[in-house]
Amino acid sequence: MLKGAPQSRFLMLETTMYDYAKLLHLIAGIVWMGGMTFMLFALRPAAIASMEPQPRAVLMGQVWQRFYTLVLVAIVVLFTTGTHLYTATFRAAKAATGTGSVPLGWNVMLVLGVTMMLVFGHIFFAGFKKYKRGIAAADWPLAAKAGGLIHKMTLLNFTLGWLAILAVRLLR
Ligand code: HEM
Repeated sequence: MLKGAPQSRFLMLETTMYDYAKLLHLIAGIVWMGGMTFMLFALRPAAIASMEPQPRAVLMGQVWQRFYTLVLVAIVVLFTTGTHLYTATFRAAKAATGTGSVPLGWNVMLVLGVTMMLVFGHIFFAGFKKYKRGIAAADWPLAAKAGGLIHKMTLLNFTLGWLAILAVRLLR
């Protein structure tokens, strides 16, 4: 056997696991960001332009119910793969140089990513729960208020998501 062969096999395995984690991370990010893009710029304006407020409120409730299940899965995937990408690189840098360090953009992504997850918690528990209560009780003003909050928080998360992606690509 060639000298060093087992080590290079090990390195290949490490690289592959990192690649899979990054692929899953990208897929989850695309699902979340793409869903917000569709909702903010296609579904919502089209529903406002073509539907009466009450059936529109029912439709948006059904849409959010389904989309938020996907977002919850995306959050679990983004968090587990993101922390893996971060810590694996941090540990490798520490082993190689004695000090663990990652690019600035990665720290920005960590902070903005966790903020997005907390904002989503607010959307889900403060916005969507109230929205559903409003629809069930035919309390349209309550549903409209909660819907407004959901819209604003979604715009915030959309902005934070793009800032995080720009940071991870551009900040060294
Ligand atoms: C706990 C939260 C997060 C952590 C710790 C994290 C960590 C990371 C790290 C370390 C990378 C760089 C991997 C590399 O270049 O090899 C990365 C890339 C990326 N992340 Fe995150 N992330 C988080 C949340 C998010 C969120 C919420 C999104 C989008 C919605 C996102 C989208 C992306 C994308 C698109 C890339 C790929 C950039 C590229 O191709 O280089 N991440 N993430």
